[in-house]
Amino acid sequence: DTRPMVDGFGRRIEYLRISVTDKCNLRCVYCMPLEGLDWLKRDALLSYEEIAEVVRVMAPLGLRRVRLTGGEPLVRRDLADLVAMISAVPGIDDISLSTNAVLLAEQAEALRDAGLDRVNVSLDSLRPDRVDAIARRPGSYGRIMEGLRAAEEMGFAPLKINVVLIGGSNDDEIGDFAEITRERPWHVRFIEVMPTGSNLDLSRDNYISCAEALRRIRRLGDLEPAEGPTGNGPATYYRFPGAAGSIGVITPMSHNFCDRCNRMRLTADGQLRPCLFGDLQTDLRTPLRAGEALEPHIRETLRVKPERHELVQGSTMGSGGLVALSQTGG
Ligand code: GTP
Ligand code: 5AD
Ligand code: SF4
Repeated sequence: DTRPMVDGFGRRIEYLRISVTDKCNLRCVYCMPLEGLDWLKRDALLSYEEIAEVVRVMAPLGLRRVRLTGGEPLVRRDLADLVAMISAVPGIDDISLSTNAVLLAEQAEALRDAGLDRVNVSLDSLRPDRVDAIARRPGSYGRIMEGLRAAEEMGFAPLKINVVLIGGSNDDEIGDFAEITRERPWHVRFIEVMPTGSNLDLSRDNYISCAEALRRIRRLGDLEPAEGPTGNGPATYYRFPGAAGSIGVITPMSHNFCDRCNRMRLTADGQLRPCLFGDLQTDLRTPLRAGEALEPHIRETLRVKPERHELVQGSTMGSGGLVALSQTGG
């Protein structure tokens, strides 16, 4: 059966976000508690071979793009090996990485040689002291800057920068981030913070909408709608006329983009999730390890993919409440 993956609402699924670890070397205030989370045990994680097998099964069903996420994907050893395995799968034409860039400088070359096409880097401030304060790991700023430089040198493009909006913390830098795009080919995306179990106060009290961010940016100059850079993400793009880069907004709270959803997620422990939020997931690890066919499980996940998530302030979807996006691959 090689029918393409289409869900019950006619959405074609061609993008898989793969979390390779739930661990992270940072502790971003909106993501996880300072003490960390209950990390998965090592044997619970899919091996690179098992992850590649999932990609091999999905590619003939229409999978085209793969993104590696975490946690922080670069904390898992030899990630370039996985990139090489995925880039060898026929049909996969875009492999990207979402990273905090702390470990990127030392791995960038190996990743490029393995076939990585592009990176999205989280950077919530342009000020060294603030970066360290938001990430709650001193010394992060310098390493992130080295990582960004390495990404540019390796030719990872388009380069996307993710900025989670936090009122009272980085919202006075919205204009600075926007100004950067005039000269540099960066695609800066402002993201509305989503409530998760560990950030309920912050995501309610410090919420800033993307509409507010755009309002402030328009004081600095006219914006025109822009064609999005490569990638089939949820962002909507604008630019200052003639700018080298662009400004994107990702609005999970104010305008959900579920009608355009083209993705599923694979957690580090092998659960296939049809939606970022909610409890729905299908165990692929057990059939993988039993040598059973994965396709029926994949089709079942597609069948139950919900039309939309109902993400509202002050509550997280799912019974226990999602503790952090690091556990599902963001
Ligand atoms: P490309 O456009 O392919 O470059 O990637 P992307 O923007 O989808 O990926 P990235 O990992 O940089 O994610 C940016 C933000 O979008 C993060 O805050 C994600 O949590 C959020 N995001 C990605 N996919 C979804 C989704 O399906 N639903 C919701 N609510 N948020 C998402
Ligand atoms: N709300 C919005 N974005 C988040 N990210 C992590 N947690 C949240 C949240 N609760 C972002 C990270 C990274 C991207 C993959 O997801 O900053 O840029
Ligand atoms: Fe780590 Fe990303 Fe979560 Fe920050 S947002 S703690 S970098 S997983």
